[in-house]
Amino acid sequence: MKVLLTGANGYIGRRLKRALLDLDGVDVRIFVRNKKTLSQKALDRCEVVEGDTFDKEALEKALEGVDTAYYLIHSLNKKNYKELDKLSAQNFIDIASKCKVKRVIYLGGLGVKNEDTSEHLLSRLETGEVLSSSDNVQTLWIRAGVIIGSGSASFEIIRNLVEKIPFLITPKWVDTLAQPIAVDDVINYLLASLYLEHNKNLVVDIGSKKMPYKEMMLQTATALGLKRYLIPVPFMSINISSHWLNLFTPVPISVARALIDGLKSEVVMQNDNAQKYYPNITPLSYIQAVEKAILEIEQNQVISRWSDADGTIWDKTHGDQINDAIFVDRQETDISAYDKEKIFKTILSIGGENGWFNYDFLWVMRGFIDKIFGGVGLRRGRRDQHELRVGESLDFWRVEDIVENERLLLFAQMQVPGLAWLEFKIKGDTLIQSAYFYPKGLWGRLYWYTLKPLHYFIFKNMIQSILKRSVS
Ligand SMILES: NC(=O)c1ccc[n+]([C@@H]2O[C@H](COP(=O)([O-])OP(=O)(O)OC[C@H]3O[C@@H](n4cnc5c(N)ncnc54)[C@H](OP(=O)(O)O)[C@@H]3O)[C@@H](O)[C@H]2O)c1
Repeated sequence: MKVLLTGANGYIGRRLKRALLDLDGVDVRIFVRNKKTLSQKALDRCEVVEGDTFDKEALEKALEGVDTAYYLIHSLNKKNYKELDKLSAQNFIDIASKCKVKRVIYLGGLGVKNEDTSEHLLSRLETGEVLSSSDNVQTLWIRAGVIIGSGSASFEIIRNLVEKIPFLITPKWVDTLAQPIAVDDVINYLLASLYLEHNKNLVVDIGSKKMPYKEMMLQTATALGLKRYLIPVPFMSINISSHWLNLFTPVPISVARALIDGLKSEVVMQNDNAQKYYPNITPLSYIQAVEKAILEIEQNQVISRWSDADGTIWDKTHGDQINDAIFVDRQETDISAYDKEKIFKTILSIGGENGWFNYDFLWVMRGFIDKIFGGVGLRRGRRDQHELRVGESLDFWRVEDIVENERLLLFAQMQVPGLAWLEFKIKGDTLIQSAYFYPKGLWGRLYWYTLKPLHYFIFKNMIQSILKRSVS
């Protein structure tokens, strides 16, 4: 069976890719916007087509000869995501029909259309409708609500709130009912959908027991061994709640707002097709899902995170703008007496719990200021304390390039009036560390000159600290 996986770098896609590669008799093709994000193992084991869903030629190449295609695409970070997602789904189903694909499997969100339905959910529903509109291609539309797993946005929000605040202020929305599901169960439903014997379109709602969000908070506290108290504040608006989440959890204000907007209405199952068509899957309970997620985090086994894929660095407008940077802080040091592999390993350990080699309090302060202005701050940390991969988030940076033992390039995602990069390069016997800045207008220039004295200490010290740590 030839299977196409789209959204392979996303939260669900990365986990599904692993599971698909373990299946016998399944030939996996991956459709990604940038090949660099794939590990050598994935490149060796699957066929890869590069492109996006707005490029019909690339889509045709991807869907040619495919039996079943997974559609795991969405672009929440873009302003006009609703229109983009609709167009993306339409292109996909048109080309799938042209290529005689038999089945499309789409994972969307639980919920119904009414006056309270959030923009985000509406867009997910519209995508499902478009994908189900073909007479030639069958669509299995799996619908999940709150997904609980290590690195999932919902779990990270609940975990961070519960861990950090003993007295949880709870707005009205914590009484809304939801039907959470473990990420492993989601993957099981998606895999089982490959073999389902059914030839008509089907909408399958999945989830475990219904419960309000406040119950999820209390059960998470129990799983973490913490005692927490809920203080109801029913008048807390969506706006204040979003700022609250932005400050205390890793999600930036834009994601917090989209998620809270979705909490106005219930996200519960509308059909029993999961039980009817997938009788062999019994979803984990909420607390089991939380315990599994905590264990994965403790064992440094997080496969994917909500912040893994946001498309920023694959954006065509991003391009080679690093070459246009107006300001550059460059530090160089001789490393002829050092083990270069160890230096590179040290560089790859940057950020998260490992810190930024020195002056960590200044990085924490910068992260806090970023959060106050609605940015991502430092809370995203690292997915893995040793390994980095292209495309993933790292504190308030995103990994843009890794050339083994030669180069690490990070793109700044903090609130900054311009575009900024931090690069580490090993060239012969020299370690070169460069901070690039492409300012936007007068504010950008002012920002660079204001921080120049601080940068002088941070960057000068950083390159020396890397050498020291590489021999410690
Ligand atoms: N995660 C959850 O908690 C959750 C809950 C319920 C339902 N779902 C549903 O599950 C599906 C997958 O969600 P997710 O959380 O895994 O998404 P995600 O982490 O945001 O990943 C989205 C993926 O879409 C890709 N993409 C975006 N625009 C594209 C385009 N134009 N062409 C090609 N690829 C494009 C991205 O590729 P790049 O890597 O190139 O950026 C990325 O791999 C969505 O339909 C979502 O509604 C998710």
